[in-house]
Amino acid sequence: FGKLLLYAHQLPSTHTLLSQNFHAFPVGTVSVADVQNQGKGRGGNKWESPNGCLMFSYTLQMEDGRSVPFLQYVVSLAVIEGIEAVCSSKVVKMPEVKIKWPNDLYAKGLKIGGVLCTSTYSSKNFNVVIGVGLNVANQHPTICLDTLLHELCSDPTTLTRHELLAAILGRFEVLFKVFLSQGFSALESKYYQRWLHSGQTVELEERVEGSSKVSKVYVRIQGLTTTGYLRAVDDSDESYELHP
Ligand code: BTN
Repeated sequence: FGKLLLYAHQLPSTHTLLSQNFHAFPVGTVSVADVQNQGKGRGGNKWESPNGCLMFSYTLQMEDGRSVPFLQYVVSLAVIEGIEAVCSSKVVKMPEVKIKWPNDLYAKGLKIGGVLCTSTYSSKNFNVVIGVGLNVANQHPTICLDTLLHELCSDPTTLTRHELLAAILGRFEVLFKVFLSQGFSALESKYYQRWLHSGQTVELEERVEGSSKVSKVYVRIQGLTTTGYLRAVDDSDESYELHP
């Protein structure tokens, strides 16, 4: 990934650029920008994209559509491991970055980044665009990785976006190979160590059959389903599949 790297100071969106021109560039192309004026988040949200935020997208192809929902988890893990690889040489204490399912990255209880995976199907392939936004040194939104590192790190100015980009893509390559050869189950324990939901109880609202009433049920999160959603159980061990 990143053998072809398209850099622009400003773009509408690195994600839109690659989605709309998927076949114009080789698979593995990375697009990176300092500023985006139409940054995209998951579910049609806007992604605040000021200078100082690390923003990039890259392409890949998958034959098996069942693997596609897991890619966002592989990427989230790669982002965290990339941050740790860069920071381990610089900080006294590692910033604890965790995954809030499905695609948010949190530190100190606040969102510092997010992952966006979109795909289209053509000619027997899933054409996937992966986007990562990481608040490294931006003033807005106010929570940013370097602010956190400031408290931990003797010289936070040495943390650069290009170094993080290289480390994240490097980790992704390693994890992606494992994922392709052994499936997500080989990465699952690493993933669960990094997410915020182990043993978490959440409240669900269920529609009562044949009526417009809703009832509340509490379920415990167990992990991911084989299709890439959230698996939870209630007190009577009935299973639930939760979608974002
Ligand atoms: C989210 O948290 O909803 C995902 C945010 C993803 C933002 C990145 S920034 C680089 C790439 N280009 C975009 O327009 N979006 C993604």
